[in-house]
Amino acid sequence: MARRKKVYEGKAKILYEGPEPGTLVQYFKDDATAFNAQKKDIIDGKGVLNNRLSEFFMVGLGNIGVPTHFIKRLNMREQLIRACEIVPLEIIVRNVAAGTLSTRLGIEEGTPLPRPIIEFCYKDDKLGDPLVAEEHIIAFGWANQQDLDDIVALALRVNDFMSGCMMAVGIKLVDFKIEVGRIWDNDMHSLILADEISPDSCRLWDIETGKKLDKDVFRRDLGSLTDAYTEVARRLGVLPTNSGPVTRPTLIN
Ligand SMILES: Nc1ncnc2c1ncn2[C@@H]1O[C@H](COP(=O)(O)OP(=O)(O)O)[C@@H](O)[C@H]1O
Ligand SMILES: [Mg+2]
Repeated sequence: MARRKKVYEGKAKILYEGPEPGTLVQYFKDDATAFNAQKKDIIDGKGVLNNRLSEFFMVGLGNIGVPTHFIKRLNMREQLIRACEIVPLEIIVRNVAAGTLSTRLGIEEGTPLPRPIIEFCYKDDKLGDPLVAEEHIIAFGWANQQDLDDIVALALRVNDFMSGCMMAVGIKLVDFKIEVGRIWDNDMHSLILADEISPDSCRLWDIETGKKLDKDVFRRDLGSLTDAYTEVARRLGVLPTNSGPVTRPTLIN
């Protein structure tokens, strides 16, 4: 099993050294965590679904010219990615009020926002990923002004693409989180979309019923997380519409 060197193990994924310099293998675990890992569980099949869904979104984004870390899927749980220097920010894009925006500002969940709102959190589990302003980001050197301009443009392109994808299958993209990283070419760098895009990192509501199809199902004990993610994958055509549970290996090549 220990055929590769583990580079990092996080809450939801493991990174291994890739076959070539500048590459990594990203392994999707079944672990679910919420509230900064105070709530934890193992959700059968979640890693398989997120590997597939993140591939689906990253390939689609790549096709419209958004640079991403995705190279190719290796198997049910692993994908080959470009290694990058992660900018230590969680970039949140919101279309509808929910979660911490609602609790912090007292705006009722479900209220449509007048325009997409982008928030930055400093990626540090020990501090609970606190919300930060552009002032902090630049003053502490986590990113420069050019990076921030590029990050905002990239985040809005991801929002447009993801909103459209979801709208087409009857799902409202309420909000999502992305991470970006730097790729260096001598002393110049460019930014690419990294980490994952999956129902772990988005809020997805059924347009008709309002039913939640994302990690809030786990956070708020609303039922089966695997069923919710399978529903998203089926609607997007990532899984055959008549397939059974994702844990049956024959269903995913
Ligand atoms: N292309 C990449 N290159 C380097 N690091 C990456 C890349 N994509 C994602 N990462 C990092 O790998 C880790 C993924 O594992 P995850 O379980 O999400 O960790 P965490 O618990 O830190 O959120 C994250 O820390 C993320 O920032
Ligand atoms: Mg993470």
